[in-house]
Amino acid sequence: MSLDHSSDTSARPTTRYGSNSGQPLTRRDGILKVTGQATYAADNHPAQLAYAVMVGATIARGRVTAMDVEAASRHPGIIEVFTPDNAPAFAHDPDEKMPPFGFRLELLQNHSVRYAGQPIALVVAETLEAATEGARLLQPVYETDEARTGRDNGVQFDPQAVGVGGPPSTSHGDLDAAFAASETIVEAEYSTPAQYHNAMEPHAVVAEWNGDHLTLDMPNQALAMSCASYARYFDVPVENVVIRSPFLGGGFGSKAILNGPQILAIAAARKLKRPVRLALTRAQMYGPVGHRGQTWQTLRMGLSSDGRLKAIHHRSISATSSFDDFLEPAANASLPLYAADALLAEHKGLRLDIGTPGPMRAPGEASGSAALEVAIDEAAEACGLDPLEFRLLNYAESEPGSGRPFSSKALRECYERGAEAFGWKQRPRAARTMRDDNGLLVGWGMGTAVFPCPMFPAQARTTVRADGSVLVETGGVDMGQGAWTALAQIAAEALGLEAHEIEFRSGVSTLPDAGVAGGSGHTASAGLALSNSGLDALAKLAEIATNDPDSPLFGAGNIGVLPRGGRLVRRDDESRGERFADILTRAKQSEVIGEAKSMREPGNAEKFAMYSHGAVFAEVKVDPDLGQIRTTRLVGAFAAGRVINPRLVRSQYYGGMIWGTSFALHEAALIDQRTGRVMNADLAEYHVPVNADVPSLEAILVAEDDPYVNAIGVKGVGEIGITGTVGAIANAVWHATGRRVRHFPIHIEDILGL
Ligand code: MOS
Repeated sequence: MSLDHSSDTSARPTTRYGSNSGQPLTRRDGILKVTGQATYAADNHPAQLAYAVMVGATIARGRVTAMDVEAASRHPGIIEVFTPDNAPAFAHDPDEKMPPFGFRLELLQNHSVRYAGQPIALVVAETLEAATEGARLLQPVYETDEARTGRDNGVQFDPQAVGVGGPPSTSHGDLDAAFAASETIVEAEYSTPAQYHNAMEPHAVVAEWNGDHLTLDMPNQALAMSCASYARYFDVPVENVVIRSPFLGGGFGSKAILNGPQILAIAAARKLKRPVRLALTRAQMYGPVGHRGQTWQTLRMGLSSDGRLKAIHHRSISATSSFDDFLEPAANASLPLYAADALLAEHKGLRLDIGTPGPMRAPGEASGSAALEVAIDEAAEACGLDPLEFRLLNYAESEPGSGRPFSSKALRECYERGAEAFGWKQRPRAARTMRDDNGLLVGWGMGTAVFPCPMFPAQARTTVRADGSVLVETGGVDMGQGAWTALAQIAAEALGLEAHEIEFRSGVSTLPDAGVAGGSGHTASAGLALSNSGLDALAKLAEIATNDPDSPLFGAGNIGVLPRGGRLVRRDDESRGERFADILTRAKQSEVIGEAKSMREPGNAEKFAMYSHGAVFAEVKVDPDLGQIRTTRLVGAFAAGRVINPRLVRSQYYGGMIWGTSFALHEAALIDQRTGRVMNADLAEYHVPVNADVPSLEAILVAEDDPYVNAIGVKGVGEIGITGTVGAIANAVWHATGRRVRHFPIHIEDILGL
């Protein structure tokens, strides 16, 4: 795989005095990780540790009628076997969703089975081996009902909400009138499969109770929110729950939500009065810890004779479990991007006997934009327009204050720079017209990338000490994306220091709540809190200095002061100032503490649509005889506000583009129609791209100054790379072969017989 670092001009490393923002620092936890010094949850072995193994159901619907608890219990080393007959009690009913972000959970509340992989027992033993053998000896017996596993036998329903509490239907304009006024109508169905997060690190927990105090080592994307939820399940004050989550081997959304297995292990630790460790196996991650739900989407578009979109009707049937309601908000992908006189996005639910889906990297947008961007390509073709020309004609560009996406002005630059770098101008419009020297069919396709930039309420604390040292703290989560590195850079910038000059603490719930590491909003949310807490600390220092006749800053209160390399200086004369340490020492104060809570300015959130944007261009080569498809080039240009760390931002785009490649050509969980079980619940048969599948990647960072998104100008980059990429590859496959494939992943059998 060749990674192109040369194209970046807009986000050059900067060495601005007193700031680290903009510099391509390497990860602060990188050395710890590559040398094995970083410890993950399951690496913790407190004294008296007991080992739990979860037993998952092997049927998708029915009841457990018997388990050989006696045989399991007799096995040497077994401490306790938990089944519904001796299940731990919980202060919160696991069948009740816990607002605002709760899921119904399986906590051995009864003998029914609602999906394959559902926890039906937890075996705790002195060793992992004993617990594993005890689990095997249980040999559950089932009464089995027929599993509903697909569109044919699932139960359709009208959902109350999609995604996390979003409306199931959104519209503007008169759809019927807009279709009636259309010259051409393009309509097709698209489908996307179930996908599983497959974080490298499994869901694990080491739970330790000390009376009513609970300490959890676990990978967790939402520390404060999770503490509150555990407190309710176990009826203890929230301040009694501490989560340590210093390193995560990936999360992708699945570690932002509670799940049954981890809660059962915590309950076991309480009952047994011993610390308990549970780590799911790879196969056990295909069920009780969420996944990206299947969708069946229909896109109908009305077009005028000059190629303008008049109407968009995007429908999604989104699969969910038989007992809960997380629906992939796929149709909403059509809401923010293309201008049409009328638009309707609507969802239906489909109940299947599967574990409840949940948010997975770009939930809604990934599946929805896959369909949308292929449909846009088909619409362009129907109008006889080049796909780029068609998108330039139809994307919604507007001015600040218009209520339409301001940032879409940057989208034009993404289109233009991406196309330029890719060489899109050379593309023949007709399909199946390019071959390489080896006779492989070559195709070029594109897709638009878009992702919202939400912010979560977040808090941070900055302590400036009399010895000149500075400590910044927020309970942030770094699941591999580099958040801690970027957050420290933002904190340093606010203080006029370099990132290595501050001590940065994060990753534990006792620190100020940094909000959720999700929705591509973590850097903006926690970063703004850190920045504001730094400014608060500086204001307190300035207050002391400007009122002290012995300070060179005396009387500068109205003029203002600036932080410069550990000093406060006068705004009008930077040569006059003094060190933070001297200000505090003379005032006989050991420290000042700056604190901040932050969230987005609500007025701006109402006035402006807020999105990150991008354009992705793909080249594929297809073997005309064998149908083998390879992505050979991917170029993405992305605008996502201010770039704090170009190295990390580019990594996020690469990761997203590789994920998009995976979505387009590799990934799908396959359910056995007879048993309702995922047949490929391992990384051998659940395909994700390996290095040989990943093409030359180029991510162009388009500079964007968005004064409304937040005071630090930061948007999100974690999820957008998937959007656009999936459609770009599918469209390139069409361009190579003339075959329009409308389901994912695209496989050899879709191409054979060319
Ligand atoms: Mo993500 S699916 O917002 O962790």
